[in-house]
Amino acid sequence: MQIKDTGEVFHGRDGENLLKVLGQSGKGTVTSGCRSGGCGICKLRIISGRYRCGNMSVAHVTDEDRHTGLVLACRVFIESDLVVETVSTACFRMACRSSPDRQP
Ligand code: FES
Repeated sequence: MQIKDTGEVFHGRDGENLLKVLGQSGKGTVTSGCRSGGCGICKLRIISGRYRCGNMSVAHVTDEDRHTGLVLACRVFIESDLVVETVSTACFRMACRSSPDRQP
């Protein structure tokens, strides 16, 4: 799995939760909230790859959003290699720290 913005690579197995994989990377801290699809803080876009989704709050991800790959990482289960793109700097502090372009 790769974060497109930073080029960082993460390793997970089929069926694993995307937010958990990102959080266990050892590369930094992934900010998360409810971990149940309700707060929206872990929103990201999946650029490519196969995955399945659990229930997500439509207040944070609409059906239209899902068709464009916008998801809540805590409700995504990976089924293949994924390429993801950050949409919430709060979620991927570690990605932002490692990318000079995104430093505050
Ligand atoms: S951590 Fe709350 S929606 Fe993912």
